[in-house]
Amino acid sequence: MMDWKELEETCQHCTRCGLCETRRHVVFGVGPKNADVMFIGEGPGQQEDLQGEPFVGPAGQLLDEMLSIIDLSRENCYIGNIVKCRPPRNRDPLQVEQDACIDYLRNQVALIQPKIIVCLGRIAAMRLITPDFRITREHGQWTEKNGIWMSALYHPSALLRDPSKRPDTFRDLLALRAKVAAVAAKV
Ligand code: URA
Repeated sequence: MMDWKELEETCQHCTRCGLCETRRHVVFGVGPKNADVMFIGEGPGQQEDLQGEPFVGPAGQLLDEMLSIIDLSRENCYIGNIVKCRPPRNRDPLQVEQDACIDYLRNQVALIQPKIIVCLGRIAAMRLITPDFRITREHGQWTEKNGIWMSALYHPSALLRDPSKRPDTFRDLLALRAKVAAVAAKV
């Protein structure tokens, strides 16, 4: 396991998969290094690639609003992605790209030791919760894995494309707030 400094430097120079050839910035992740709650998306989009920060484009604006509904914010949550470099044209990250990158995220989780991990969308849920995760049926459900409470929400991009998913997400957010109150005293 690497410490924060070594981990971030290694990620900044990473050439483990082809995404390094087209990236502008490695999007390492942001937030307090002792956060109780982590949000994990699938990979940087265009704005994230340009700015080097996760969830700063349109989906990120919606994520900020979702957090504020339940009194969370970037000040008290860590936000990251399954892959740290933008897949061209925002395609889903390939399995080989996820495999190349996932140990960096595992290292971040080991350093942060969050109480709760919230997957944003199907890709992150399939990678972190279970490979056959079905987001339409299983969003908002909670499972404990290695002492960490895990759940998935619809990806904010999916909510932008399909507002009919928003009421479900509102309920999932209220359940997340209850889970935070139950297990995460710090926020
Ligand atoms: N979508 C993601 O999954 N992650 C980001 O950082 C931005 C958009």
